Amino acid sequence: MDAAYFRHTGGAGAIKFGKLPVPGLPETGRVLVRVAATAVNHVDTHVRSGAFATELSFPQIIGRDLAGTVEQVGPGGTAGFLMGDLVWSNSMGFDGRPGAGAEFAVVPAERLYSLPVGVDPVEAAAALHSGATAWLALHRHARVQAGETVFVGGGAGQLGSALVVQAVRAGARVITSSSAADTGYCRSMGAEVALDYRSAGLAGELADAVGTLSGGRGLDVHIETSGRHHLEAAVELLALRGRIIALSGMAATNMVPLGRLYTRDGSIRGFAISNASVSDLTDAARAVNVLLSAGALQARHITRLPLRDAAAAHAALEAGTNRGKLVLIP
Ligand SMILES: NC(=O)c1ccc[n+]([C@@H]2O[C@H](COP(=O)([O-])OP(=O)(O)OC[C@H]3O[C@@H](n4cnc5c(N)ncnc54)[C@H](OP(=O)(O)O)[C@@H]3O)[C@@H](O)[C@H]2O)c1
Repeated sequence: MDAAYFRHTGGAGAIKFGKLPVPGLPETGRVLVRVAATAVNHVDTHVRSGAFATELSFPQIIGRDLAGTVEQVGPGGTAGFLMGDLVWSNSMGFDGRPGAGAEFAVVPAERLYSLPVGVDPVEAAAALHSGATAWLALHRHARVQAGETVFVGGGAGQLGSALVVQAVRAGARVITSSSAADTGYCRSMGAEVALDYRSAGLAGELADAVGTLSGGRGLDVHIETSGRHHLEAAVELLALRGRIIALSGMAATNMVPLGRLYTRDGSIRGFAISNASVSDLTDAARAVNVLLSAGALQARHITRLPLRDAAAAHAALEAGTNRGKLVLIP
């Protein structure tokens, strides 16, 4: 089968495109999936480069997310999946599992979910990682409540937009930062205040917005997706028992005003979806499917590329030269 894989960690050039054996008959509890689409995420580049330490099995096929069709189920039937079913997964390609960047992938049934009727597999693949990450960040880690005030830094990005949509649906009042050109997009998703991250007066504008929306209580949830953290300001804006969720900025080393944090029962909680349990991923998948069915979870600016362009896709994502979501088609 065609596959994009690497034999050692390294730069994007470590990815080769070529033939690998089609996986054999799936074992009990596993499903052979014909891959229709696989997304390119920042974390896929971290796995490939070795920046994110995880068990790999060389030749390691790239890619975490897939949408596709059930080709064959393991002996004894597998968790209700039937040949031809449209399915998706978002936890392949790390922790010893083969990746999604090939014509076929064998997926453990507990990591496979039905794709809702009428949802395009390419559009689904583009939105899965951000959608599930946003749900876990908001509901599992931040425990967001209706009426709370939430800041989403980078609100127009793939993850940022999934956070905005889901925070709004949870009944939160949302403030975003984004490029000036994207403030309208953030508002269209339900953000009540959309700030330009390049504004010289950003800190004051954010403080004003937090004061107004929270009635002076402060920020309940602060999530920065751009990787550019201003923790002193973030802690200063926190409400009593406010939560900062740290999920971007692999190389960030920030100072934390600890005294200000603990005296308001504030917390900073790190979170990577790679560490999510199967049961957390299943809960997130349920929520993602509701959003997909409602047309409420959509990646912006999807670019479809043939799988053979995987190395170029990784390089473009790392260089920041692409706009939007890259999806590889085997
Ligand atoms: N922890 C996890 O489980 C997890 C899961 C998924 C993603 N992530 C991480 O989340 C981050 C974002 O991923 P993504 O796919 O959403 O990337 P993305 O689509 O490139 O979004 C990043 C956004 O940040 C904006 N931005 C850049 N500089 C900014 C600044 N100073 N202030 C505010 N916004 C700024 C960008 O806007 P412009 O392009 O207009 O400058 C862009 O819209 C990555 O670091 C990724 O690794 C973590």
